[in-house]
Amino acid sequence: MKQAEIGIYGLGTMGRALALNIAEHGFVTAVANRETDWIDPFVEGASHLGENLLPCYDLESFVARLARPRTVLFMIPSGAPLEAMLDQVAPLLEPGDLVVDAGNADFNDTVRRAERFEAAGIAYVGLGVSGGARGARHGPSMMFGGTADSWTRLEPILTAIAARYEGDACVAHLGPDGAGHFVKTVHNGIEYADMQMIAELYGLLRDAGGWDAGRIADLFRDWSKGPLASFLIDVSVIALDTKEPDSGQPLIDLIVDTAGQKGTGRWTVIEAQKLGLSASTIEAAVAARSWSADRDLRARAEALLPGANVVAGLPGVQTLEQALLAGRILSHAQGFDLLAAASREYGWSLDLARVAEIWRAGCILRSDLLSGVAEALKTLPDETPLVLAPQMLAVLEQTVPALRQVVGVAVQIGQPLPALAAALTWYDSLRRARGSSNMIQAQRDVFGAHGFERTDLPGRHNGEWG
Ligand code: 6PG
Repeated sequence: MKQAEIGIYGLGTMGRALALNIAEHGFVTAVANRETDWIDPFVEGASHLGENLLPCYDLESFVARLARPRTVLFMIPSGAPLEAMLDQVAPLLEPGDLVVDAGNADFNDTVRRAERFEAAGIAYVGLGVSGGARGARHGPSMMFGGTADSWTRLEPILTAIAARYEGDACVAHLGPDGAGHFVKTVHNGIEYADMQMIAELYGLLRDAGGWDAGRIADLFRDWSKGPLASFLIDVSVIALDTKEPDSGQPLIDLIVDTAGQKGTGRWTVIEAQKLGLSASTIEAAVAARSWSADRDLRARAEALLPGANVVAGLPGVQTLEQALLAGRILSHAQGFDLLAAASREYGWSLDLARVAEIWRAGCILRSDLLSGVAEALKTLPDETPLVLAPQMLAVLEQTVPALRQVVGVAVQIGQPLPALAAALTWYDSLRRARGSSNMIQAQRDVFGAHGFERTDLPGRHNGEWG
């Protein structure tokens, strides 16, 4: 019986797309799924792949179909469902086998799972896969966390199926166990911030400017040809352009303003806080999704909470464009700072320029900006944050005045721009050699004798407070 080079377990949208991509590149792929009735329609729909796609109807025959040493890739939800599958598959595997989790997982879980499997001689890879279903099908960006040996084994398949940026495959071995999932999590955190900032400008144009969806689509279409060129701007144009077939109304106008989230944005914020950092644009984006969920409260509060009662003209479209570019740079800078801090904390030696490079195609974050970020990171001295890279400073000098103007107008008229405002606040906090936290230290010492350092004397001190 023909043996498979890899097995994909989980035939949801992403698993199906990845299996087709792998099999189409000539790798014999076994496929299985918990709901066995999904398997035949999938394999029958891909009959052109012949024996490159081998259907298996239970876990035992799936594992038995894999050439030794085996490679099993799970593309299923990363919490309890994955945990249960790992428990079931573990006794069927033997030393030398390789397990890949290609879903979005909390990197702490990946580290724990890798320890468990590696204790049994089985390699465990946390693989961040970005690009949604189209990416998985035609070329995702992939962030690999695992041992050097497991990378050597999987590299041919991953390189073959990855997205390409000017010929360069968008996949890299970033570090051990949880490193790939951590980088993917931060990718998603930046994705949350970018989506939120675009949504904020959409809201400003709609609510304060009275623009309809078609007009905003035209503006974003223009932006997609300039420095904001990116997948997320393109996606936003599609979102604004699409009409509801029956009524002809823009579909976006019919969508409830409550954003879903599956957890990666929240994980980014939690990990940043654990490392003593704040990725405040990402925090704002996560918060905005949470606020969006309380629709009833917002409906009640709209009638009760007074607004600004100020009328101010909207900034021009170029100002809005520049403001978004500044926000995008600042949110990427926070994300890369977080990656640098995690790399130091966990001893990963992450190649940040390579991370930016593999995000240039295939993933949700892909944008023209990432090419500039990759170039900047290549020459940036260690420990220097991205925001201080000369290439970024040059653009910020041009664009932050616009961000200031947009946030200023929004504050005056009472239009919320949480992520853009957070980006500006971070920028203004950074460019202040003497901030106001001496007051926090004084307060802590007044009420709790926590002590403080002085600017004029060495050592630790307590005040003799009146
Ligand atoms: C990707 C995406 C993907 C994620 C969506 C939805 O890189 O392909 O990040 O992994 O599923 O972005 O995430 P939320 O449901 O949390 O918005």
